[in-house]
Amino acid sequence: MRVAMIGTGYVGLVSGACIADFGHNVICVDKDAAKIEALERGEIPIYEPGLQDLVRANASPGRLSFTTALEEPVRAADAVFIAVGTPSRRGDGHADLSYVYDAAREIAAALDGFTVVITKSTVPVGTGDEVERIINEARRDADVAVVSNPEFLREGAAIHDFKHPDRIVVGTQDERAKKVVAEIYRPLNLNQTPILYTSRRTAELIKYAANAFLATKVTFINEIADLCEKVGADVQEVARGIGLDNRIGSKFLHAGPGFGGSCFPKDVRALVKTAQDHDVPLRILEVVAAVNDTRKRAMARKVSAMFAGALRGKTVAVLGLTFKPNTDDMREAPSLALITALQDMGARVRAFDPAGMSQAQALLKEVVYCEDAYDCADAADALVIATEWEQFRALDLERLRDLMACPVVVDLRNVYRPEEMYRHGFAYACVGRSLAATDFTDDGSLARLLSLAKVRARVPSL
Ligand SMILES: NC(=O)c1ccc[n+]([C@@H]2O[C@H](COP(=O)([O-])OP(=O)(O)OC[C@H]3O[C@@H](n4cnc5c(N)ncnc54)[C@H](O)[C@@H]3O)[C@@H](O)[C@H]2O)c1
Repeated sequence: MRVAMIGTGYVGLVSGACIADFGHNVICVDKDAAKIEALERGEIPIYEPGLQDLVRANASPGRLSFTTALEEPVRAADAVFIAVGTPSRRGDGHADLSYVYDAAREIAAALDGFTVVITKSTVPVGTGDEVERIINEARRDADVAVVSNPEFLREGAAIHDFKHPDRIVVGTQDERAKKVVAEIYRPLNLNQTPILYTSRRTAELIKYAANAFLATKVTFINEIADLCEKVGADVQEVARGIGLDNRIGSKFLHAGPGFGGSCFPKDVRALVKTAQDHDVPLRILEVVAAVNDTRKRAMARKVSAMFAGALRGKTVAVLGLTFKPNTDDMREAPSLALITALQDMGARVRAFDPAGMSQAQALLKEVVYCEDAYDCADAADALVIATEWEQFRALDLERLRDLMACPVVVDLRNVYRPEEMYRHGFAYACVGRSLAATDFTDDGSLARLLSLAKVRARVPSL
């Protein structure tokens, strides 16, 4: 199959490389000339484990190539994927479909012979109808089938997810299109990956419903975590206790600072808007969006609580900036709201992230960017773990404590065990584990009292 991939971002590049790896000929197109030049030099513009090797392995035999010129690859293609961005539209939260519609117009002008146009971008219900209308209006002679084939990959595990999906959703009723899509995914079919053929509108909604459900699960456990802190329960045990129930499942039950990233926040907002437009308000999701928005900033109050609200002039070290580990994506990362709130409270912020520093520098000003975790912690009054990168899971706690001006750790990802932190002399707070969030004044272990003494020595107001 000859495939043109329009949009070479996270989804377009990973999908293009994987489809080439299945044995098809793929040309990835992007408007961003710098991105294409970098790819032609063998440089990968995003951080995604395994992607560099996969791109190289398929580019060298010529199965995968890159261009800014859409016309020729589309003209020659059996299938054209649209994988451009669909960010939140400024002001109202609807999905901004201008990139999708622009791509549809450009594709229409270049079509030649029967072509399957496949929307991989996450788009609201009815977008496929509009793409079809745009193409047919621009080219009365066009022989196209417009298909919805939403993508479910996760950044950080994108190649694995693309090659081992739980299911492939294909929204079309066109038999010729079904054959083309089935051929593209044939290697997965051999692995018995379920292919779900649905109407186009149903496929479009499946993607939003999936993300909205997962976002709801995260928000649910976050609120249960807040309750755990008040009533003396442990959210990790609650999550395990409910997650072992097959009807619930254990995934997406990790309490933390709220969901972020390039998908959940914008997709929840867009689905809420679609539903309102159809007079079917999705109240649960409206609340999920609102609760999550306030949560990120509220995490800064966990830090200030360790200093009885007196954060002005304190130095806070933030470990992890990206919205999750193994990506450099900073889109709607909880660290953005957290750091802004810490700065609003008068704190100075130092930060380190293994992959997201250059993206972060464009978004977060007045932050001192550090070499590594220990450089970041140096002379800090508090350390916040905002993203659970693997390298933050086994920090040398003695070294960390000795480096810090004040041994306060606020662990927003529950990476460490409270007892371990107390033993090493830290004042420690986390999410939804009430024993860890105690005020250190009860009759606790010697280590806890020692850590309180250290904090007190630095913070006279305590
Ligand atoms: N990132 C994810 O984890 C993920 C997962 C599943 C689905 N999605 C969805 O996939 C879509 C793409 O997301 P992304 O994260 O890859 O976006 P991205 O911003 O990383 O990439 C989009 C790319 O499209 C290019 N582009 C825009 N208009 C173009 C045009 N007319 N011609 C050629 N190139 C054009 C941009 O220059 C950019 O490089 C979105 O709808 C998103 O919701 C993303």
